[in-house]
Amino acid sequence: MSHAEDHAGTRRDFLYYATAGAGAVATGAAVWPLINQMNASADVRALASIHVDVSAVAVGSQLTVKWRGKPVFIRRRTPEEIEAARGVPLSDLIDTGSENANKPGTDAADANRTLDEAGEWLVMLGVCTHLGCVPLGNGAGEFGGWFCPCHGSHYDTAGRIRKGPAPRNLEVPQAQFTDETTILLG
Ligand code: FES
Repeated sequence: MSHAEDHAGTRRDFLYYATAGAGAVATGAAVWPLINQMNASADVRALASIHVDVSAVAVGSQLTVKWRGKPVFIRRRTPEEIEAARGVPLSDLIDTGSENANKPGTDAADANRTLDEAGEWLVMLGVCTHLGCVPLGNGAGEFGGWFCPCHGSHYDTAGRIRKGPAPRNLEVPQAQFTDETTILLG
């Protein structure tokens, strides 16, 4: 694949995610440098870890980046979203595992799903665990989190499956803060 084709493909994918996310991407200005950076090498991109600048992500918004060929949602949650997520008893959950690569074997309590202790940052693969569609964000669905319109799966504000055919919570990939405004994926 030529560089030009690769670039076009990435751009198309990005626009698709942006549309599917119903305006969930923070701002074009914040996203394009990341996407361009990711165009540097398709081979490297497939395996690499990437740094994501989240300095422009406001409370209550979500940045979507493409990583290892998949969309990754980076949401900066509001206090209300955090409170809602933390108020859910485990017995209400369909999938009681955290599905968090950073905390294997832990339960799906909200604190085991977020990147920071305060619970403001939630990083997840934007891939429905039913058949792989990209869920809609920004408070979508009956539980105020994400909604997958393909077959009607509702995820809560911690990205946990609450209703519909999806069997598992949205997956949390390997991620960490490397400084106050940078998240390393992978
Ligand atoms: S792929 Fe999401 S509900 Fe089927």
